[in-house]
Amino acid sequence: MELVHTATELRAALTGADNTAFVPTMGNLHTGHVSLVEQAKRLGGPVVASIFVNPLQFGAGEDFARYPRTLAADCEKLEAAGCDLVFAPDLDEMYPVPQTFTVRVPETLANDLCGAFRPGHFDGVATVVLKLFNLVRPRVAVFGKKDFQQLFVVRDLVRQFNLPIEIVAGDTQRETDGLAMSSRNGYLSSAERQQAPQLYRALETVVAGLQAGNGDAETLAAAARRHLSMAGWHVDYIAVRDADTLAAPAHGSSHLVVLGAARLGTTRLIDNIDFTLGEAR
Ligand code: PAF
Repeated sequence: MELVHTATELRAALTGADNTAFVPTMGNLHTGHVSLVEQAKRLGGPVVASIFVNPLQFGAGEDFARYPRTLAADCEKLEAAGCDLVFAPDLDEMYPVPQTFTVRVPETLANDLCGAFRPGHFDGVATVVLKLFNLVRPRVAVFGKKDFQQLFVVRDLVRQFNLPIEIVAGDTQRETDGLAMSSRNGYLSSAERQQAPQLYRALETVVAGLQAGNGDAETLAAAARRHLSMAGWHVDYIAVRDADTLAAPAHGSSHLVVLGAARLGTTRLIDNIDFTLGEAR
């Protein structure tokens, strides 16, 4: 596996490659990222992963400064997963001049769900993803379903800018107690770590309620919010949406997703479950 830090080195390493599978990351890799790389590997072409903590997608007071930078350990994991090339640019390489041209995600998507609590976040994600796509020029890119709204943003970005890139979704990887793997789990104290699977359990309760016809989506989501709040969480949202449009489920929508974001202490966790009404998961 080769590690490069500049766009020039990246393009040189990819000369003639037209079947590249790309996994963009911010590093501090865990088994969830490894599974995305393994999925990319199965697509057949060379696998490129990027490691870049993108300041554009962090708001004031968020964890940009303390986001763990663990390049050596990340490279070991990527190599073991079969990655061929790692692109780890520094800030000046990605943003040699102030990024005054940016992607503006439509407000209905940018200010919804996580976007309502992280103003500008999805514009920052879309802008860096577009830059990374232009640098790597992949045939296919793999994004985790854990960041369900991000996956939507990236799919729409690719569609609306006619980028010749196939977007593939990777399943969320979970700890044995159900907690979705996330780089931010490392911020949890041991007491918070014990409590953290409650978010997934709350989402599961909403899914079970909908499957059993025990209430409408908003009533079940409100009950889950109350339950988490009483357990000491600060809930940003729990919401049920159409999994294909991310809009409020229309009458007759059967492919649904229940999404949640909530904070334990200073750590913000997100999770989601997509499912089809009437079908066991
Ligand atoms: O999901 C992430 O790790 C980041 O949002 C991404 C896609 C690498 C863009 O910085």
